[in-house]
Amino acid sequence: MSSYTVLVVDDEDSVRKLLSAVLKREGYQVECAADGQEALEKFQSVQPDLVLMDIRMPKMDGLTAFKEMRKLRQEVTVILMTAYAAVETAVEAIKLGVFDYLIKPFEIEEVKLLVNRAMQIRKMAERITVLNQELLDNYRLDRILTNSPKMKELCRTIDKIAQSNATVLVTGESGTGKELIANTIHYNSKRRNGPFIKINCGALPESLLESELFGHEKGAFTGAAMRRAGRFELANQGTLFLDEIGEISQNLQVKLLRVLQEREFERVGGTETIKTDIRIIAATNRNLEEMIKRGEFRQDLYYRLNVVCLSAPPLRERKEDIGLLADYFLQKFAGENNRELMGFDTAALRILEKYRWPGNVRELANVIERAVIMSNGRMIFTEDLPDNLRDSYKTVDEVIVDIKQPKGQPLKEMMKKVECNFIKEALDRNQGNKAKTAKELRISRRSLLYKIEEYQLE
Ligand SMILES: Nc1ncnc2c1ncn2[C@@H]1O[C@H](COP(=O)(O)OP(=O)(O)OP(=O)(O)O)[C@@H](O)[C@H]1O
Ligand SMILES: [Mg+2]
Repeated sequence: MSSYTVLVVDDEDSVRKLLSAVLKREGYQVECAADGQEALEKFQSVQPDLVLMDIRMPKMDGLTAFKEMRKLRQEVTVILMTAYAAVETAVEAIKLGVFDYLIKPFEIEEVKLLVNRAMQIRKMAERITVLNQELLDNYRLDRILTNSPKMKELCRTIDKIAQSNATVLVTGESGTGKELIANTIHYNSKRRNGPFIKINCGALPESLLESELFGHEKGAFTGAAMRRAGRFELANQGTLFLDEIGEISQNLQVKLLRVLQEREFERVGGTETIKTDIRIIAATNRNLEEMIKRGEFRQDLYYRLNVVCLSAPPLRERKEDIGLLADYFLQKFAGENNRELMGFDTAALRILEKYRWPGNVRELANVIERAVIMSNGRMIFTEDLPDNLRDSYKTVDEVIVDIKQPKGQPLKEMMKKVECNFIKEALDRNQGNKAKTAKELRISRRSLLYKIEEYQLE
């Protein structure tokens, strides 16, 4: 049952009574007014969700009353009632924003149907407004959590470029937040109310990808029973996010280049040239420059995509974010699982901070979700973390403790373990820079390379 309020406006008492009875039976609250003037007063005092109003009335006609209401509340839903003779006025009124009109005399069923439909649409519109607000909130710039200077710089760049139409290339290892960055750009841009269309270029075979991107005409290939719009068309006035751009074939690279240059294309099997107004954001975890050298990626396409390049640093290069993100995910998953968790035990946190996170933020999120489910108490302890984090990423301190309490391991093995950990930590500290690491450890670059190879540290 709905608790929406309908304002019925008609100068005929019998019409008001009839409509009022019908709508009350449908579950609406009903208020009545006998002319345009009274309608306006009631409109302000009862704040109806819908107004059902006659056009021809004394004092103030329905159309004028509608215009006045419109001034008071932009999104008002109004249905006008009219005798057949005044249908033209009603049609005019629709252009002005009236929801629909009923021709007198009308069937009761017709009234019910129209009012219910109007209220359904209103409900949907309200829902969309709420969802839209949530979406905008989710992709506020400050939703990219970070303590790292590099990432903060990146956020400032996002803020600057969001307003422009520049093509953006987002690079970074898997799970570093490339998609989050793409979304944040779109929802902070002028195009935020337009569509954000995403396509994963690595997920489809070439021929399918082509028709997904450009659309196709009816009969373009077996199975093309109808004309279909592609993502370039769907993204019109919005943003197109080309994920895994490094995976597209040479043939499609050529076609993509043309859209980037001319902002126009044809559907597969079609001749009509379609113009499109889109902003393109591409992302990849591959090294496109290396691919260009190997002849796998077109240089001209790269230049077109790389107008602005944002590179999301891997988590191990911004260790200051690990604790912050871990806390965030802890609260998030605790909430989802109806658990109350306070935080991480020191050793657990240290393990998280030491791990190399090849799967970056996504891997961290998964580890924390699992830990929340595994944990029993109010804190996350080391035993709630997966084995691979605990075993292969022991800190040097812990390894030294191990050595003090020998468990029958040969000395050589233990020394190797210590050496391996020392090198790993030094590499991390120097962001993988081998020259710096070798200098810090006071060994030659060659022997460092040899050790990296021996311990498979890359
Ligand atoms: N700085 C951050 N703050 C909050 N959440 C983040 C942050 N970075 C990433 N995330 C979250 O981590 C998850 C992985 O991010 P995202 O999907 O954007 O990564 P990706 O680089 O596109 O990964 P892939 O290469 O695997 O597609 C998402 O749930 C994202 O919301
Ligand atoms: Mg992604």
